[in-house]
Amino acid sequence: MLTLHVNRKRELGKRDPMLYGQFIEHFHRQIYGGVYDPGNPLSDADGLRTDVLEAMRRIGVPVLRWPGGCFVSSYHWKDAVGPVRKPAFDKAWRVEDPNTFGTDEYIRLCRKLGCEPYICTNAGTGAAEEMSDWLEYCNLENEGQYAKARIANGFPAPHRVKYWSIGNENYGPWEIGAKTAEEWGRLVLEAAKMMKHVDPTVELSAAAVPDLDWMFRLLQLCGSRLDWISLHQYWDALTEQDNPADYEACMAFTANLGSQVDRVRGILKALGLERRIRIAFDEWNLRSWHHPKVHSQELGVEKESYLAPRDLNDRNSTYTMADAVFSACFLNEMHRNCDLVKMANFAPVLNTRGCIYSWEGGVVLRSTYQVFDLYVHHLGDTVVDLWAEGEAPRWQVRRKDGDLAEVEALDLLATGWSNREGIALAAVNKHADQPQEILLDPASAGRAFTVFTVNGPSKDSYNDVGRTEISVRKSAEGVCRAGEALVLEPHSVNVIEIA
Ligand code: AHR
Repeated sequence: MLTLHVNRKRELGKRDPMLYGQFIEHFHRQIYGGVYDPGNPLSDADGLRTDVLEAMRRIGVPVLRWPGGCFVSSYHWKDAVGPVRKPAFDKAWRVEDPNTFGTDEYIRLCRKLGCEPYICTNAGTGAAEEMSDWLEYCNLENEGQYAKARIANGFPAPHRVKYWSIGNENYGPWEIGAKTAEEWGRLVLEAAKMMKHVDPTVELSAAAVPDLDWMFRLLQLCGSRLDWISLHQYWDALTEQDNPADYEACMAFTANLGSQVDRVRGILKALGLERRIRIAFDEWNLRSWHHPKVHSQELGVEKESYLAPRDLNDRNSTYTMADAVFSACFLNEMHRNCDLVKMANFAPVLNTRGCIYSWEGGVVLRSTYQVFDLYVHHLGDTVVDLWAEGEAPRWQVRRKDGDLAEVEALDLLATGWSNREGIALAAVNKHADQPQEILLDPASAGRAFTVFTVNGPSKDSYNDVGRTEISVRKSAEGVCRAGEALVLEPHSVNVIEIA
């Protein structure tokens, strides 16, 4: 049994609120028929679903990345502003986008949520100037045609968008307008130069992968002009086959969650940029999105072969305690790296693999939503030193490829608050069927504790319309006593608040 020792005075870093960020893309029912659902009785005068807004406000969405994702790499923002919208064929997802939801509707959404906008630009078919024109439209008072167009469109005050990403995954052969490392560095350099000339106060990110060549070239050319680099990762590969990994296989994915960050940290250090550039892990999810025959060389011809299967992302039974436990382990790892990782965006927030699912009569708060609810309301904003005395329990699991792997059964993180006393421990028991016992820090003896838990009756529990198996609940409270073990339920995510 582990004994936890917390050094409250040894702070490892302050967790930026943007670690709980979200992402929404023009894909399937995230925007149209999702958050933007004019005509639905649950929508407001701007066509935005009030129940979706309320669910997003409850978890305090701090930043919302938009409009893609692969979608953005052939998106032209000028088609989607003003009184006349130009429907466009979305070459990424091979559907028509009516462009009735564009920049101004997105900004309105962010204002209603009280969150920061974070716009990803088209570095696929778009030139640097299209990006800087977009920044003119959003951030200039009234200089130039684009700021004047925003005013004419009914927005006299600038939108003041602080966070911008140059490109999406232009390193990938699946991306419209994929680039070589050399091409990428040059485009990012010109785009960053022009955007900073329009508004030097913006913070710029660029798509990156922890590949030495790609990252080195990008940072050698643009390191002095970038404020962030973007990382993406999905673990359960479901793009072509919708065969979700089972609970044990998902636990195998929790090994080495910080590997990308570790590699980038080394590259930044080598280039002397570790104090200047931060990481935006601006797409992450245990499960990749299911959209067969668009990312592969073999394209679907009949819509039944490539459009219809996208509805399989909506199957709520996919999102079990495996998703919740994995997401908690990922967020814990990003907390451990909060000196470098200052933003993370769950991909996506709504529908597809989102933490929220909407249907015409309401919303379903899936298992990962409950983890955001738990962490946002009960975990501290300062990561402090934690060490565990004793042998960490390990557990053998079968990976999705059939091989065996061993993972730690517990994932532990200690936090405090910058404005009050006390600590909050995140304690995840990954084990499918065995409870785990821990001993709280003997130094906490005599202090009151409360445990908040996300769990369901089984590892395969899930939430659906008319079915709530997983929620946040107060599962224990009392006074810390030396030698008295605390029991963590199987497949559970817990936050232990100690006064
Ligand atoms: O599957 C969705 C896609 O995943 C996003 O559009 C892209 O950014 C990532 O490759």
